[in-house]
Amino acid sequence: MGLEHRGVTVWFTGLSGAGKSTITEALEKKLRAMGTKLEVLDGDIVRTNLTKGLGFSKEDRDENIRRIGFVSHLLTRNGVIVLVSAISPYRAVREEVRDRVGDFIEVYVSAPVEVCEARDVKGLYKKARSGEIKQFTGISDPYEAPTNPDVNCETHNESLEESVNKVIAKLEEMGYLP
Ligand code: PPS
Repeated sequence: MGLEHRGVTVWFTGLSGAGKSTITEALEKKLRAMGTKLEVLDGDIVRTNLTKGLGFSKEDRDENIRRIGFVSHLLTRNGVIVLVSAISPYRAVREEVRDRVGDFIEVYVSAPVEVCEARDVKGLYKKARSGEIKQFTGISDPYEAPTNPDVNCETHNESLEESVNKVIAKLEEMGYLP
């Protein structure tokens, strides 16, 4: 028997290497164990199918986010908890998606760029510094931080468990989990 709950999109925004995917994966495990109906849309994976062929210009990033937002909306209105992990650097399109989905929680994964660069999990910051990768968010492309996120996960100051629990607490507080 699954857990009775409403649909909601939990949208993780933040720099590459801030910890979006790590939190999403840990949260996914926890929510699955609770018996929720769940789907994960991770930027990296989405870009190999749903938004294949899009690049990293402002126009393409906005298109990427709109498509992810469209799918999130369909799933959310069918009672699914959707975890989205995408840099989503532009405020206006994030707000557009929030308005369209309605049931929406914005999570800002907010490690400073220096911390993300020092972690350099995928070696992309190095390539961005050398110019091998152009328009890299936080280095040579903008990131517009949320002004009023529902949850702020400071991954440089808190444990993974704390970040995950903050999101769970918000889901409970907003009535998405019993
Ligand atoms: S966006 O801005 O929301 O459309 O980006 P997203 O779909 O989340 O994809 C980000 C991942 O693509 C890799 N990558 C880049 N990121 C930022 N800028 C540039 N130029 C770039 N080129 C490739 C990178 O691995 C991102 O993954 P994460 O998981 O965020 O590290």
